[in-house]
Amino acid sequence: MKKTTFIYLATTLLVLFAACTKEEINIIYPDENSDDDEVVYMPLKDKATFNIGTATKLSDLSESDYDATVVEHFNQITAEYEMKMNVVWKGENSYDWTAPDALVAYAQENEMDVHGHVLLWYKSFPDWFATAQYDSAAFESNVEEYITAVVTRYKGKVNSWDVVNEVFEDNGSLRQDELITATFNDPIAFYGRCFQYARHADADVKLFYNDYSVALVEAKRKSILEMVTRFESEAYPIDGLGAQFHYSIATDMDRLQTGIDEMVSTGLLFHISELDLKVNVYQSNDYLFSSSEQMLQEEAYQKIVEMYVAIPEAQKFAITTWGVTDKYTWLTTSWHQLEYPLLFDKFYTKKKAFDGFLKGLE
Ligand code: XIL
Repeated sequence: MKKTTFIYLATTLLVLFAACTKEEINIIYPDENSDDDEVVYMPLKDKATFNIGTATKLSDLSESDYDATVVEHFNQITAEYEMKMNVVWKGENSYDWTAPDALVAYAQENEMDVHGHVLLWYKSFPDWFATAQYDSAAFESNVEEYITAVVTRYKGKVNSWDVVNEVFEDNGSLRQDELITATFNDPIAFYGRCFQYARHADADVKLFYNDYSVALVEAKRKSILEMVTRFESEAYPIDGLGAQFHYSIATDMDRLQTGIDEMVSTGLLFHISELDLKVNVYQSNDYLFSSSEQMLQEEAYQKIVEMYVAIPEAQKFAITTWGVTDKYTWLTTSWHQLEYPLLFDKFYTKKKAFDGFLKGLE
């Protein structure tokens, strides 16, 4: 073997070894018998008076432990990405229904609701559409056709849709770096018409506006509430607000309470639509998910669920976690490799976070 090949192989092995051991030294796994005495374990969905949802992917559902966990605890699914425009919309009048059809069939087999995510999101325009340089009329007639096709196909099978996702910046202004603000003089009216197109396709489906930081950041929330007021005065249909809840164990819960109260004051349905709680807040390479950190996560989950339980019954829709297990969370790629934000660990053991969620449902 050449010397350079040897050095390359040895380095690769060392890096792999370090990666494996790193994982092990950065987490203290709960002892199998350490279940909390105060908690009477039961499926989350059996304890809640509203739906308990999770984001999921077809590839994950083929893993038996994953599938069993979803079936045991959740009665609603959201496609983590397989119902987004770039997956489904292949060209004008051309659609690939393979993945969404399979997810919807899975939900039907298991008697779960499907929350559709998402009809319009600046990050999921397919390339062919984003580069077509449509004027506003052509842009809108294409989007109308898309929304009509998707909502019609799943009429009666998808119970609710995020129609529009993430159009405001945290400072409350409309997001400037996207296609829609560049194409329309009055983007909010265009969004209103998108809600109308969805309503025309399915009179019974619940229609949501969804965004992140809504419960935490006042300026953004104010703009969303103004949009809701405008929709109501101009008769654009909207049934609910989705607040994503990608927060952390360091998030200020009092501020969240204020945000929730203000959103609930609209009288609309309220969906915690993408809940996960980061623990490695400072993105540390030496992060240890210790038992005290696990307890902080438990408390944070409990508090959030309690706040949700306290809203008026008629406005409850669902709490949806953004994933099932720490083994597959978008945060290990988009935040930090050492991140443990969900209710089940990578062996599908219930975490303290699960206990917190369950206690919050009391
Ligand atoms: C994320 C998914 O988790 C990733 O798998 C995907 O690659 C990118 O999108 N807000 C949203 C979700 O509304 O659609 C995003 O999901 C997370 C942030």
